[in-house]
Formats: sequence, C-alpha cells, structure tokens
Amino acid sequence: MSNLFRKKPIEAFQAEMKKSGLNRVLTKWGLTSLGIGAIIGGGIFTLTGIAAHDFAGPALALSFVIAGIGCMFASLCYAEFASVLPVEGSAYSYAYGTIGELFAWFIGWNLILEYMMGATTVAVAWSGYFVKLLHLFHVDFPIWLCNDLATATEKCTAAGLAIPSFAFNLPAFIITWIVTAILVKGIKEAASTNNIIVIVKIAVVLFVIIVGAFYINTANWHPFIPDEVKTITDGVEHVKFGFGGVLTAATIVFFAYIGFDAVSTQAGEAINPKKDVPFAIVASLVVCTILYILVSLVLTGMVRYDQLDKAAPVASAFSGIGLNWAVFFITIAATAGLTSVMLVMMLGQTRIFLGMAKDGLLPKGLFGTLHPKFKTPYRSTLLVGAIISIIASITPIEKISEMCSMGTLLAFGMVCVAVMILRYKKPELERPYKTPAVYLVGTLGVSFNLFLMKFVRPETWVAFLIWGAIGIIVYFLYSRKSSNLNNPDYKP
Ligand code: ALA
Repeated sequence: MSNLFRKKPIEAFQAEMKKSGLNRVLTKWGLTSLGIGAIIGGGIFTLTGIAAHDFAGPALALSFVIAGIGCMFASLCYAEFASVLPVEGSAYSYAYGTIGELFAWFIGWNLILEYMMGATTVAVAWSGYFVKLLHLFHVDFPIWLCNDLATATEKCTAAGLAIPSFAFNLPAFIITWIVTAILVKGIKEAASTNNIIVIVKIAVVLFVIIVGAFYINTANWHPFIPDEVKTITDGVEHVKFGFGGVLTAATIVFFAYIGFDAVSTQAGEAINPKKDVPFAIVASLVVCTILYILVSLVLTGMVRYDQLDKAAPVASAFSGIGLNWAVFFITIAATAGLTSVMLVMMLGQTRIFLGMAKDGLLPKGLFGTLHPKFKTPYRSTLLVGAIISIIASITPIEKISEMCSMGTLLAFGMVCVAVMILRYKKPELERPYKTPAVYLVGTLGVSFNLFLMKFVRPETWVAFLIWGAIGIIVYFLYSRKSSNLNNPDYKP
C-alpha cells in the first residue's frame, strides 16, 4: 500500500530544474500573454453557441460567472504550487511531490483529457471557422466533408438535404497534422509571435463587445432563463434551460477558461518563475473572465438564443446584422487564434508525457525520446497528432469538449486538495506566493469543481468512468513497476 503513496523528493525537482538548460526569457507580461493566448479560443468563439442555444439561453453570462468563480479558486491554488515547485509537469508534478504516486498518475491521466481533448475540441472549432472563411470566398465544403456523421445528419435534416451515410471532418484532420508537423520540427512560437496573436485576439474580442453593444436588442434577453424542459432519450433524462440548464452550460463554457494552468508548464522558461508564474496565472484568468461575461451578454443581446449558430456563433451574429467586413475580420482572427491554442495544448501534452516518462511512469522509448536533430519528443508528438486527428474528424464537438472539461475539473479539484495537504505537512517550505485563506479557498475550489461535475451529461460520465478505470489498470499493470521510485538504485 505504501508504494501507492511514495513521493518524488522535492530535491529531485530542484535538481531537475537546475539541469533543464532552458532559456529563461519570459517576463511577467510575456507569461500573462501566453496564458491569454492559451485561454481565448474555442470556448468563446464556438461553444457559446451550443451553451446558449441548447442549455442556458440568455443566462449564458451567468454560466460564465459560475464557471469563472470555480476557476478562480483553482487558479489561486495553482499559483501557490507554481511558486513552490516551478517545474514543467504542472499539476502532475505537484501531486507527485506532495500526495503520492497513484494520485499523481491519476492527475496525469486526467490531464490527458484536458490537453489532448482540449486540442481536439479546438481542432473542430477551427474547422467551423475555416469553413466559414472559405464560404466568404464563395468556396463551400460539402457538409459530409467538414462534420462528423451526427452533426452532418443534424445539419442535412435541418436543411432538407439527403442524409449522408458517411462523414469526415477534413479541415479538422488537416489542421491537426499541420500543428503536429510544426511541433515535431520544434518551431517554437517566439514570444513576440504569440504576443501578436494575443493582441489580435483581444482586439477582436473588444471589437465584438464594443461594436456588438450597439446592436443589442434587450428583448432578446427575455426571459433571461427560459423555462426548464426535460426530455428523455434512450432512457436518459436531459435537462435544458432553467437553473439546471444554466449549470450544464457552465460545465460546457468551463472549457473557455482552460489554459490558465498552461502558464505553469512554462515555468522553466520564466525569468523569475516563483513570483511571475503565480501572477500570470491569476492575471490572465481575471482578464479573460471579464471579457467572456461581456461577450456573452452582447451575443445573446444581438441574436435570440435559439437563432444562434452553433458552429461559428460570434461571426454569424455579425453576418446576421449585415456587417460582412466584420465577419471577415472576426473569422480570420478566430482561425489564427484557435491555431495558437492548439499549439499550446499539444505542446503541453507532450511535455506532461515527457515528465511522466522521465519518472518512469510511461515508456521512455515512446514518450521520452528526443529527435536527434530537432530535439523534440517527436514520437509522442506524432502519436498525439494521430489520436487527435482521428477523434476530431469523427466526433461531435460537444462530446469532446465535455470529456475535456470533466478531466480538467477533476485535475483542478485535486490541485486544491494537494495545496492544502502541502501547507499542512510542510508549512516550512519557502512560498513566494501563498494562496489567501488556503483551507477555505481550497475547500471551496474542490467543492465547486465536484459540484460542476455533477451537471455533466450522463453519457459523458460513463465515458469518463471508463477512462478512469483504464488509467488505474495501466498504473497497476505497468507504471507502478516501471516507476523510477521502484528502482532501489534510483538517485534524484
Ligand atoms: N480555453 C481554451 C479554448 O477555449 C481551451 O479554446
């Protein structure tokens, strides 16, 4: 039993940090910009459509407030950890140093959902905007070639077209392989390139808020929370609208906040990680929360919730009012912005795999080998690219994004628990940043994240439990034995 709680010594992390050899170039604002670059993406540009149309109605803004509060608690806990252990493995490493191996493994397993399914969701969102962009140039993809089968069937039925027997999301497939190729070659986004994309993204979001505000019809906000509707499909109850629908929408738009924790994976490249990483985590989240609440109010004010487009709601809201030049601008910015989220998410995933492989929990040959020339973990990058490209081309976006949110909610909850344990067990550690009222914030963070998980749809829960069970099996069959800590000769 005690093996399950063996911990990686804090000294081992410190030794690894010294050896990492990465260039420390990122400033406080550079890190904040990276955070914003990873946060603003498919959540706001795409999922707002589904969340308002299918679940929350005009109360979408309330869903954003609820999800934002939950993330704020988690971000304060992440910030303390990042100041104590500014290492690249993020929540996985924090847990390995504090609670123990099985817990850390389980977090790492859930981070796969966060990063890999996150990138997959964004690939599908990218496809929605790219198809919209081509449409502006009068090039139209056939529905079966830019959607999964379920979505293509829904669209064809709505348009009175023949239902296809096969469908494949080609743009999502192609963008995944382009991003994979960039990551294998290791063309790391220079901080300046990222800053430019972030400026474009913020500019477009501000544009939507300011220009859109002139087109708000307040009648669209009534009723703010439409009446609850319960339906039963295949014996499973589905709730939309009402406060239950607002909470389900909160679990969907929770996705929009994911990414603030990606800042913590950049700790190795920060000039002053102990102070600047915590700052950037909290600052990027605060900026995005404010922007999101305003965008959702504007969108649901411009277009009645049941008329919102589910694939590219922001651009469509502007085409609805005839501002076609704005549609062009928004679509290009969203397409570029989504590409950068994919890059950061896939990069984060391969780094977490690398960390787990170095610790012996995953096969080193597949996940830990660097390319002789490019010095990137090319095998795992190719594997990640292959998995993402296949799932993205055949699965509806809401199914993938919910799996991503589930994994992330659990990982965030676990970080809140871990920060309290570390405070209790090792009060003497140097903490350049301390979570305020840690036991209160930590408890609220765990409760909030678990509470939101309760509102995820039943079929997502089933998939999530199967995923968790596979993780535990892999741990007991492979990782427990191959762990560095299982080797009596292991020295940090
Ligand atoms: N928060 C990121 C997005 O919305 C993952 O795309």
